[in-house]
Amino acid sequence: MARIIMCGSFKGGVGKTASSWNLAYSLAEMGKRVLAVDFDSQANLTTCFGVEDPAAVPVTIGHLMMNRLEDEKMPDPSEFIQSRNGVDFIPSSMMLSAVDSKLRMEMGSEKMLTGILEPLRGLYDYIIVDTCPSLGTLTINALTAADEGLLPSIRSFWQ
Ligand SMILES: Nc1ncnc2c1ncn2[C@@H]1O[C@H](COP(=O)(O)OP(=O)(O)OP(=O)(O)O)[C@@H](O)[C@H]1O
Ligand SMILES: [Mg+2]
Repeated sequence: MARIIMCGSFKGGVGKTASSWNLAYSLAEMGKRVLAVDFDSQANLTTCFGVEDPAAVPVTIGHLMMNRLEDEKMPDPSEFIQSRNGVDFIPSSMMLSAVDSKLRMEMGSEKMLTGILEPLRGLYDYIIVDTCPSLGTLTINALTAADEGLLPSIRSFWQ
């Protein structure tokens, strides 16, 4: 059963995405089965994986969240999990920001990501969730789904 680790901080540009990326590949190098989830509409982790145009990806985490909001059937994992050099990932795109505003109006919406990740737990040792720099409904979803949190903090020498 996978341990779900969310990488978060309300501050921008502190290395959440870089830490998610490095942690995912470090664990994969140790022989672990890793799924990285880009849970930020900026889609920086998605581009780290080499996806040039996240907006053109047919099924992203935003689509999966929208599916759950509308009580639609989840697609097969083969339709939304991509793989690069031994690490699986679920891409993101700007579409996730549309989900963010819808989530605010739904009761019990903090468990939408949990519902997406729970069926995938059996397939991985670690699921790493990269989040956006705010304490909105998306970050609350990531906190609810996670077993553990990683809070990166870059400190320059003049700080
Ligand atoms: N350990 C590090 N040391 C120095 N620079 C770093 C380190 N980790 C990341 N960076 C650089 O800091 C910048 C911000 O990193 P990153 O995109 O991972 O931050 P983030 O917290 O995900 O940002 P955002 O809040 O916008 O999602 C990038 O240019 C990245 O290359
Ligand atoms: Mg980031």
